[in-house]
Amino acid sequence: MKFTLKIWRQANAAARGQFVTYQVEDVSPDASFLEMLDVLNNNLVRKGEDPVAFDHDCREGICGSCGLVIDGRAHGPGKACATCEVRMRSFAEGATITVEPWRAKPFPILKDLIVDRTALDRIMMAGGYVSVRTGSAPDANAIPVPKAAAEEAMDAAACIGCGACVAACKNGSAMLFVSAKVSQLALLPQGEPERRERVLRMIERMDAEGFGACSNTYACEAECPKQISVEHIARLNREYIRAGVL
Ligand code: SF4
Ligand code: FES
Repeated sequence: MKFTLKIWRQANAAARGQFVTYQVEDVSPDASFLEMLDVLNNNLVRKGEDPVAFDHDCREGICGSCGLVIDGRAHGPGKACATCEVRMRSFAEGATITVEPWRAKPFPILKDLIVDRTALDRIMMAGGYVSVRTGSAPDANAIPVPKAAAEEAMDAAACIGCGACVAACKNGSAMLFVSAKVSQLALLPQGEPERRERVLRMIERMDAEGFGACSNTYACEAECPKQISVEHIARLNREYIRAGVL
């Protein structure tokens, strides 16, 4: 397959960025989007040009490193997949594809398509550790947890911290990410001792990092590669109110 790519190039956060057009050919329909960018970068390196910088690690939808806005959509076409899981057969032969980094104030561009997502790490750090000793695996399994709560906590724990929810939201809100991180512990007995402080500190950090308020458009849920439900945002709000009352 061959494609025309309009890719955002930007030397650093302070530099002025622009779209640069490239042609790429001989791409397998089964190649991932990142493998297609590898083909482009190999060509650029051979010509002595600066390759396009983009973030990636596992390339199998686990680590949350990858994240591109492809044709205006966080993680591109399709549902429930990260950028590294998008296959080139999803695009028409000869298509023109626009590729941009996450656009959000708390995610400054480091270079080209790579943004600094450490704001999400700082929210996690603000949440702190679980202080209770959970013991070995058999001990932990001995703590009774209702099946429904365990399932919901596991669903929340599927969040890979990619930041697509922020990129998809017109307010640049991190509510879906924070709600997943709060939910995974609020639903379990092991998360109980710090339940109040955790939600207060994470919300405070989220606001301090400059993330916006929930836009109520559900764009976050629509683009989340792990299909984290906005129901977790409802729980986050309840947890926050509860923490203020108790
Ligand atoms: S909630 Fe979904 S979109 Fe947001 S960081 Fe987690 S996995 Fe990514
Ligand atoms: S590279 Fe790890 S989730 Fe895409």
